[in-house]
Amino acid sequence: MTKTAAIIGGGVIGGGWAARFLLNGWDVRVFDPDPEAERKISEVMDNARRSLPGLSDVPLPDEGTLSFHAELADAVAGVDWIQESVPERLDLKLKVYKSLQEACDPGAVIGSSTSGFKPSELQEGALRPEQIVVTHPFNPVYLLPLIEVVPTGANSAEFVQKAKDLLTSVGFFPLHVRKEIDAHIADRFLEAVWREALWLVKDGVATTTEIDEAIRMGFGIRWAQMGLFETYRVAGGEAGMRHFMAQFGPALKWPWTKLMDVPEFTDELVDMIADQSDAQSGMHSIRELERIRDNNLVGMMRALKAQDYGAGAVLNKHDAALKPGALPTLDEADLSQPIRTLARAVPLDWTDYNGHMTESRYLDAFACSTDRFMEIAGCDSDYIASGGSYFTAETHIRHLDETHAGAKIEVRTQMLLGAGKKLHLFHSMFEGDKLLATGESFLLHVSLENRRPCAPSAAIEAALARVTEAQASLPYPEGAGNAIRKPA
Ligand SMILES: NC(=O)c1ccc[n+]([C@@H]2O[C@H](COP(=O)([O-])OP(=O)(O)OC[C@H]3O[C@@H](n4cnc5c(N)ncnc54)[C@H](O)[C@@H]3O)[C@@H](O)[C@H]2O)c1
Repeated sequence: MTKTAAIIGGGVIGGGWAARFLLNGWDVRVFDPDPEAERKISEVMDNARRSLPGLSDVPLPDEGTLSFHAELADAVAGVDWIQESVPERLDLKLKVYKSLQEACDPGAVIGSSTSGFKPSELQEGALRPEQIVVTHPFNPVYLLPLIEVVPTGANSAEFVQKAKDLLTSVGFFPLHVRKEIDAHIADRFLEAVWREALWLVKDGVATTTEIDEAIRMGFGIRWAQMGLFETYRVAGGEAGMRHFMAQFGPALKWPWTKLMDVPEFTDELVDMIADQSDAQSGMHSIRELERIRDNNLVGMMRALKAQDYGAGAVLNKHDAALKPGALPTLDEADLSQPIRTLARAVPLDWTDYNGHMTESRYLDAFACSTDRFMEIAGCDSDYIASGGSYFTAETHIRHLDETHAGAKIEVRTQMLLGAGKKLHLFHSMFEGDKLLATGESFLLHVSLENRRPCAPSAAIEAALARVTEAQASLPYPEGAGNAIRKPA
């Protein structure tokens, strides 16, 4: 049966919760006195719809029904989950629980998004304290998996398990915080970083930009995949966590931070951390952890590259600086031979479960070669911005041999036809002398205004004529014109 959630307070966070539940098939009822709430939530929904469903490689359930309610009692009656996300004021939150507990099902979970309050403070004076628990999300709630679930002794183990199961069912990662504390786990950590950052700005050491660069160009990406302790375990090298602590422990006594209230590095604390780290990561050798880390970093940095943002923008800039040496222009190339249009190493995220380059990446590589060929023939970004481009109409790929991550591959391109609106390319991919694959593409020049085929500029026609003349004596490549034929 379809489950229903009530969202009490539909601001930044409540809107994110609404989207998460709705896109996972729940019906959602919203109560928020702000007359703008409906507009704001529909804007959050638009962003959630374009980003969340595609994160899954399987279809999400059909979207639930969203409704807005003028009365709190209408919103919460009979629902399975009530998520309170009203402003961070204790008196307001307590008042809200009082009203909603008079109308809701005693079996429903009442989760609070509070960033700072302890669950015992929220349960104080409640009609049924055992029904209230902190479920602290992170923005954007529809994408980030972490929910800190902070119960008290008033909540039964079954209730906490049910809350965690429901959160898991909509794609969250519920982290059970075993001991209640102001600001839970994650925000305490962020708070320490935030305080240090404020000091660095105030003392004129760094600007806000410099601090953000210090995070996102380095340890921020590392943290995203292994957190703090596993990262430091790897930093300790083969001797692991104990060595790391022995090496960097004394720094805790040095003025490396304004936050000097640190725990004594006793043998007991070192043992506790080393033992916990062994339990967390001891199943992998340090070399294995390094490889896991490197796979993760490459995947994440290449994702940032596709967005041309942060560390990804640095990679793109570096590529642009290297490119002239790697690939010839039309004037530099020996036009009587196929032209080198791609030279690169196979990246880690191009390999699959068989350990070799996955099928779709051959098309990626050949598409890059086509782009490069277009570029050196004059169909570059300026030309495309002026309204003309080539669109691929057909591609045929032959997979002839395997290749693996790190292998240096090269693509050489023979032009089979380049006249009028038609462009017919034959790419051959090599690793050294080994032919790995061929990719044949047929493209049409189009006007980007009316999307119809048309002849390219005179300059492109002239460039293609040069290639036609120079490559005229090349043999027609073996495999060109092939297709997968119907069985006789
Ligand atoms: N913003 C964040 O990054 C973040 C992250 C995690 C948790 N939180 C927590 O989430 C909660 C909400 O924060 P926010 O950033 O979404 O605030 P917000 O100001 O964007 O939204 C609060 C919403 O509550 C509504 N509201 C006010 N009184 C109400 C009432 N009596 N009943 C129903 N709705 C009412 C407001 O109209 C507003 O739309 C806070 O407890 C906050 O600590 C915030």
